[in-house]
Amino acid sequence: MRLTLLLLLVSFAAGAQQAQHHEPKNLKLLQPSEIKEAMQAFKTALGVKCTFCHVEGNFASDDNHHKEIARKMIEMTREINGKFPDGKRHVTCYTCHRGAEEPATAPPAAGQ
Ligand code: HEC
Ligand code: HEC
Repeated sequence: MRLTLLLLLVSFAAGAQQAQHHEPKNLKLLQPSEIKEAMQAFKTALGVKCTFCHVEGNFASDDNHHKEIARKMIEMTREINGKFPDGKRHVTCYTCHRGAEEPATAPPAAGQ
């Protein structure tokens, strides 16, 4: 009986520690609850892998300069959306990027 209780406590503690391990450690703009959806959206919007912005195996690290650019882009996108009269979110990363790392500034040459 005592042993069962002990094992139960140990497994609870291990579970709690594991959950903590997945808590984001280095968020400056997004909420922890937004991360999963936002990261999938970034990946699709730019047509890249997670490691385009992240150091392999360390998502909290800021050593990949694309991550800092992405933070600036998050702020810029929020600012643009803040200027719409209805206050709704009309512009996303995808609005400009459309699956490309660098959005086009001109249409493709005519006749192509
Ligand atoms: C376009 C760049 C970009 C891409 C692509 C991207 N991320 Fe991120 N990611 C960020 C930025 C920027 C933050 C920090 C947001 C903040 O400061 O609030 C972040 C934060 C995170 C965090 C939180 C880390 C911590 O401990 O603070 C995780 C986890 C994460 N990303 C996972 C992923 C996964 C998984 C993918 C692929 C599906 C992915 N990211 C793709 C830019 C990117
Ligand atoms: C209003 C248009 C616009 C929106 C919205 C936008 N971007 Fe960008 N983004 C650009 C342009 C233009 C560039 C290329 C110029 C540059 O690299 O500074 C760029 C470049 C980038 C780069 C650098 C790519 C490289 O090859 O180095 C990253 C990373 C990025 N954007 C992430 C994002 C993310 C994440 C979002 C959404 C939160 C976003 N962008 C929203 C226009 C936009």
